Amino acid sequence: MTEEKNRLEILRLEIDRLVMKYQLKECRYFFSHLYGVSEFCVLLAKKRGLNPEIAAACGMLHDIYQVTAGIPDNHAAKGAEEAEEILRELGLYDEGEISLICDAIRTHSDKYNTYEGYAEALIDADVLSHCLYNPDFPPEDKEVKRFGKLMDGFSS
Ligand SMILES: [Fe+2]
Repeated sequence: MTEEKNRLEILRLEIDRLVMKYQLKECRYFFSHLYGVSEFCVLLAKKRGLNPEIAAACGMLHDIYQVTAGIPDNHAAKGAEEAEEILRELGLYDEGEISLICDAIRTHSDKYNTYEGYAEALIDADVLSHCLYNPDFPPEDKEVKRFGKLMDGFSS
């Protein structure tokens, strides 16, 4: 399949356009974080028997409200609504897929509770991206436990 016809790449191009309005530093942050979370989502989906392509879309869209509004306030709930609009407009995802993606986005800021499926994978992927961005920066308190557990899962 060509890149132009792959729906994940089409979605990524839409998000790229929204990120490109920012200056270099913010652009770098959003690209690094959104693509990083998307890739970690794929890794976790493969390990957990989820659809990696749906998980990748969760990662790409999870902070969409922060991208468009420029503020983090209540971005999980607002981002779920915005992601739904974007996915509907794209016309490439069915209703079941849209629900899976938006439900995961809605809960992704809650790092303390345990969820299932895509929601849990997205929270874990978000934590991995935050904690691996720069090894000199300590993890936030709310992410320490999850990060430790995830890293334990990588030890052989
Ligand atoms: Fe995030």
